[in-house]
Amino acid sequence: MKDLNLAERKNRILDEKDYNPAEALGEKLGWPKQVFHMSHLRDEDFKVGAGLRSYAASRDLGFAAVTGGLAQAHVNRRAKPFNAKDVSIPHFHDVLFHMVYVLKGHAKCEFEGHGVCEVREGSCWIQPPGIKHVILDYSDDYEILEVILPAQYDTFNIAKMPENKG
Ligand SMILES: [Fe+2]
Repeated sequence: MKDLNLAERKNRILDEKDYNPAEALGEKLGWPKQVFHMSHLRDEDFKVGAGLRSYAASRDLGFAAVTGGLAQAHVNRRAKPFNAKDVSIPHFHDVLFHMVYVLKGHAKCEFEGHGVCEVREGSCWIQPPGIKHVILDYSDDYEILEVILPAQYDTFNIAKMPENKG
């Protein structure tokens, strides 16, 4: 990763003759091969219990199989009205990357070091690996897109959220 200088890279447009497949980013990092994949919205693809949480109906976008386990993406709708006992369990995930985009509705979440955040349609955030968080409320129509690396990862429940300072 170090010699890739990711933080300093700039988008460039180059000539095909300048391309060296052996120098491609995926090759340098040894990432799994990816193949083209597309899916379309079908209500019947939302399955309760398919994702991590029983209170969500999840549409798996099929990334895991076509990225060799590198990534997963899903759209989650609410399968049940908010219930703190089932939903508000503080936890963190051992991941490489985790992005959330709110497609519909609204929710209240707490993030370690950032306090309680209200999120709504169009809100988008990245949860750094290991950040402790908890969902405190959601609307019945709350729907999110999540992109997570790798496709399979561990989640650790914790007894309570740390105190938010400042
Ligand atoms: Fe989480």
